[in-house]
Amino acid sequence: MPTLSYQHIFEPATDLSALPLLLLHGTGGDEHDLLPLARQLSPGSVLLSPRGDVLERGAPRFFRRLAEGVFDLPDVEQRTHALADFIAAAAREYGFDGARLTALGFSNGANIAASLLLLRPESLAAAVLLRPMVVLEPAPAALPSLSGKRVLISSGEFDPIVPGDHPNRLAEMFRRAGASVTLRTHPASHNLVPADLAVAKEFLSR
Ligand code: MLT
Repeated sequence: MPTLSYQHIFEPATDLSALPLLLLHGTGGDEHDLLPLARQLSPGSVLLSPRGDVLERGAPRFFRRLAEGVFDLPDVEQRTHALADFIAAAAREYGFDGARLTALGFSNGANIAASLLLLRPESLAAAVLLRPMVVLEPAPAALPSLSGKRVLISSGEFDPIVPGDHPNRLAEMFRRAGASVTLRTHPASHNLVPADLAVAKEFLSR
């Protein structure tokens, strides 16, 4: 078996009708973090869970940042392509249906999922973005076509990390690109609350 570029966990499907999921953890997490949540939200799904390969003072992430909310954009682009290549290789290797792959990403993981949609839209059919922020913001003429793709943005009204206008800006950007976007804002901070799980479960069962 050729080595896949990210340290990861793969769980095969036990229910072939369930959407295959790409799990993308937040800063300081790893490939184990989102497994229990994913099993709860979408029982029986294929789970592909890579570990971010950037270390920030020992904390794994999916791309570099220069400070809180200040991103190293060339690095974001390069690592988004590396993750897209990993996904394609993993789909071939494990034989799951990459055309239905749905990201479930939290925080930094939600941000790289959004970057995948913008730079390598063929990688994902849909994305659940939990507490995402705007990282890449292509000019309208440079947006890819995301028609046929579904995006859920689940944000916290009192999130101290995500600037208040970002969830709407993201939603608008994805809508302009043709995606079907659901934006939900909860009375919550950066941490997830039961309402996030309820909207994600509903989205994943559609
Ligand atoms: C994080 O702490 O992970 C931020 O909220 C998002 C990011 O840096 O990508």
